[in-house]
Amino acid sequence: MVQSTTKPDSQGFFGAYGGQYVPEALKQRLDEVTRAFEAAEADPAFQKEFEDLCTHYAGRPSPIFHCNNLSRAFGAEIWLKREDLNHLGAHKINNTLGQCLLAKRMGKTRVIAETGAGQHGVATAATAALMGLACTICMGEVDVERQKLNVTRMEMLGAKVQVATKGQKTLKEAVDDALAQWIDDDEMFYVLGSAVGPHPYPYMVKRFQSVIGTEARSQILSETGRLPDACLACVGGGSNAIGLFSGFFNDAAVRLIGVEPGGRGDGYGQHAASLCLGEPGVMHGFNSYMVKNAQGDPGEVYSISAGLDYPSVGPEHAQLKDTGRAEYVRVTDKEALDAFFLLSRKEGIIPALESSHALAQALKMAKELPGSLLLVNLSGRGDKDVSQVQQLLASGALG
Ligand SMILES: Cc1ncc(COP(=O)(O)O)c(C=O)c1O
Repeated sequence: MVQSTTKPDSQGFFGAYGGQYVPEALKQRLDEVTRAFEAAEADPAFQKEFEDLCTHYAGRPSPIFHCNNLSRAFGAEIWLKREDLNHLGAHKINNTLGQCLLAKRMGKTRVIAETGAGQHGVATAATAALMGLACTICMGEVDVERQKLNVTRMEMLGAKVQVATKGQKTLKEAVDDALAQWIDDDEMFYVLGSAVGPHPYPYMVKRFQSVIGTEARSQILSETGRLPDACLACVGGGSNAIGLFSGFFNDAAVRLIGVEPGGRGDGYGQHAASLCLGEPGVMHGFNSYMVKNAQGDPGEVYSISAGLDYPSVGPEHAQLKDTGRAEYVRVTDKEALDAFFLLSRKEGIIPALESSHALAQALKMAKELPGSLLLVNLSGRGDKDVSQVQQLLASGALG
């Protein structure tokens, strides 16, 4: 864990965002995690164990790859950070290794996690199996349907998958269920899957994911002799994006671009673009940008990607938006799908639908900035999305 450049204040705020808006019982759990994480962060033995697992279990460092064919076709140098090549196919494993190690250090015997696309659920289930922890994964009914392959993988890895059947039956409801069970169980650790939630999670998840940015910066320098003009990553809760960005915070000339799910368009309920189209508000115990309904509560969200349809976003991203250090844009389902097929057919890499959003934005920028060097975080591989895309093709929805 290389030291990252930004830290929240002692109350867990990044500027106006973050914090701990939680009942007392949950605050006690969070304070226990904060104390344990601070001690672990300062302990070289913990760091070494984390780094060894990243190397020998997850397969790090993940390489960067120059997309020759797309670069020629689009006129910019397009590079991918290959998080899709990690064990289990996404960046999520970086975070679950860190948090499950912490759970063990705290003497916990059970972990619980929420999942949307199932990637965090699979990574948690595998890490729990590795470390001998019992594991429950909360997942919305809609996502269970969209991501059946990952449900099967979680069960094979020995986890219990608990279906969230309230509300929109997606990621928000899965988090609601996981938080409720954590409050009641002393033996349990909550393995949160993104850089969201009350303090210390946004900071802790950033620290574990900062391995992406640290590696990417030195890899791009050694491959090209220069820094990229822009780093791009999709933003659901924002963990792969903050992990990549953290490596480049101090490089003022490098643009940091977070790509949100624009879904079917800007109408209410048609997207999950919290930073682009939302406003500040509190949910799940933290203050950030949020998609709201008419009453000011968490609103309905939609994306083709099960991993992106969350009505809020990590608080550090909210601060980066306000300060202008990072830019946030949105990409529609259609644009993401076009990028999904382009990468598959021109480079032989089937990307996750989530990551396809970031690539779609890079392809747009390539045309506007010919000759530029664009580094895209390919946060995951698309195996989990194959049957969803196949169904869309079969139904004629893709034209
Ligand atoms: C492959 C992949 N990329 C990105 C995301 C979005 O999460 P985050 O914004 O925390 O990186 C997910 C979430 O499930 C995912 O599975």
